[in-house]
Amino acid sequence: MGDKIKRIGVLTSGGDAPGMNAAVRAVVRTAVGQGIECIGIRRGWSGLITNDFVRLDGSSVSRIINRGGTMLYTARSEEFMDPVGREKAISTCKLLGLDGIVAIGGDGTFKGALALSRQVAEKGQRLSVVGIPATIDNDIGCSHYTIGFDSACNTAIECIDKLRDTMQSHERCSVVEVMGRHAGYLALYVGLAVGATSVLIPERSVDFENDVVENIRRARLAGTTHYMVVVAEGAGSVYDIASQIKNSLGIDPRVTVLGHIQRGGAPSARDRETASRMGYVAVQSLASQKGNRIIASVDGRIVDLDMEEALAMTKQFQMERYNILEALTNNGISRI
Ligand code: F6P
Repeated sequence: MGDKIKRIGVLTSGGDAPGMNAAVRAVVRTAVGQGIECIGIRRGWSGLITNDFVRLDGSSVSRIINRGGTMLYTARSEEFMDPVGREKAISTCKLLGLDGIVAIGGDGTFKGALALSRQVAEKGQRLSVVGIPATIDNDIGCSHYTIGFDSACNTAIECIDKLRDTMQSHERCSVVEVMGRHAGYLALYVGLAVGATSVLIPERSVDFENDVVENIRRARLAGTTHYMVVVAEGAGSVYDIASQIKNSLGIDPRVTVLGHIQRGGAPSARDRETASRMGYVAVQSLASQKGNRIIASVDGRIVDLDMEEALAMTKQFQMERYNILEALTNNGISRI
């Protein structure tokens, strides 16, 4: 074990997620409590390339626990994905005297963290990288939960409940797109929570006749006069789905794309609490000099895992939730 760590950097990167601020606060307050200095790197990994940073103390992170977005700003950095860009970042870390970095974000952020940790190791430099999972997509293989997911679900549910009111009055069909280019967790949880007629997700190939048309027919036969089709961004175009519904069933759906609204707003209790625990464990992990780690939620416990091992893990998609949704939506209301 080397000398006690003295100074760390913290950054948020990739798509923002409610609760990122709470995680930054936890990292800074835990570090300060242990006599470790904290530097905020602004605009994600690119801040390490452009020397964009700010010194943080306990009071710099006051009154942010309840705020959406990220006080450190965020970005996706192409330059950092290139070894030349990372070399510049490594020089900045040396210049700043950083012993460790806490990177808060999703899969893109973690790809950057892994690449950085390997390049640092090749150079024989001393710098530990710790990742905290924060993305509304909940798609980090090693962690059952990612900061921001619960808040995004609640935002989407609130919007869809409002949509349902008007769809019900006009006896219409609604096709709603929720975020998730590669992951259907948000769509599935939200679909289950709003009692959607159908949910389309990228993890399951879409059988339009069976998954959409048949569900609407059943609902219609059972006397329902409005239908809610929830589509994950990566499962297909909502406009194409709406026109297919029109062609197959002769009803004229309305399309709503919830978009970036799902990433905003005050973090939920679950996200503030998880972010606080993850931020705390991240700094403890750095302080105990375990090397490069990923913080994860495993069966409700917050643990730190070896980065290489953690990022090789994949998460089994929870298909049983899909089956429950099908059972609750399409059973009982009608059988033809
Ligand atoms: O990864 C989070 C996420 O919100 C995805 O669900 C979505 O597909 C993507 O980011 C959108 O990214 P951007 O902010 O670049 O539009």
